[in-house]
Amino acid sequence: MTWIEVNTYEEMSKVAAEIFFKQIQNKPNSILGLATGGSPVGMYKELIAQYQAGHLTFKDIQTFNLDEYVGLDQTSPASYWTFMHDNLFNFIDIQPQNIHLPNGKAEDLAAECVAYDASIEAAGGIDLQLLGIGVNGHIAFNEPGTPFDSMTNIVALTESTRTENAIYFDDPSEVPTHAITMGIQSIMKAKEIVLIAFGEKKLDAIEKLKSGNITEDFPASQLLTHPHVTVIYGGTK
Ligand code: F6R
Repeated sequence: MTWIEVNTYEEMSKVAAEIFFKQIQNKPNSILGLATGGSPVGMYKELIAQYQAGHLTFKDIQTFNLDEYVGLDQTSPASYWTFMHDNLFNFIDIQPQNIHLPNGKAEDLAAECVAYDASIEAAGGIDLQLLGIGVNGHIAFNEPGTPFDSMTNIVALTESTRTENAIYFDDPSEVPTHAITMGIQSIMKAKEIVLIAFGEKKLDAIEKLKSGNITEDFPASQLLTHPHVTVIYGGTK
């Protein structure tokens, strides 16, 4: 695991964007794994700026997002589909058919989970996966206790995660109770992973990860067994 400590959120975003920039330059038809949330917004802004400056094209890029809420319409303001369009896809030349998010409104959610992993495989697997981390060590929506060998599945959200995500909803009671998420094993299949975390709130989780203790009680710890992970982090108490 490579650790890069940064002083500001902006610096984290630039360092992470540089890794994605190089990936896209080296392999213009890369398969990217993407995340939602506050952590990646700055990185997405950097990539948009690079695209607008003519340094980058996404025309042959395919993306797979980590997760989506169950029960929200794709175009609902709080869906991850909407988040990704508002923060990245609407501003770059990615082809709509190359954008993939799990369908949280699928009639057969179990079949959707299997199909999502299969579509990642069929695309050739994820070249570079972006991750944030929850204060409880979750990655994607894999909460503490999730088996390390989990593939894409339906999960009940913990109260801690629902509270963290309530800022994206008009009313906290509107936060869905379930989500469809890539599993820990689906994430571990990525050839390379970048995890970003900034701010006081995330420091304990980063400390725990640094401690090197690998346990299903702290989902991110499984990343310690992956050969190509870069953690870009910072913030002070
Ligand atoms: C997002 C996701 C989550 C977030 C994590 C951190 O697609 O799967 O695991 O990465 O909750 O969220 P932020 O970045 O908002 O602190």
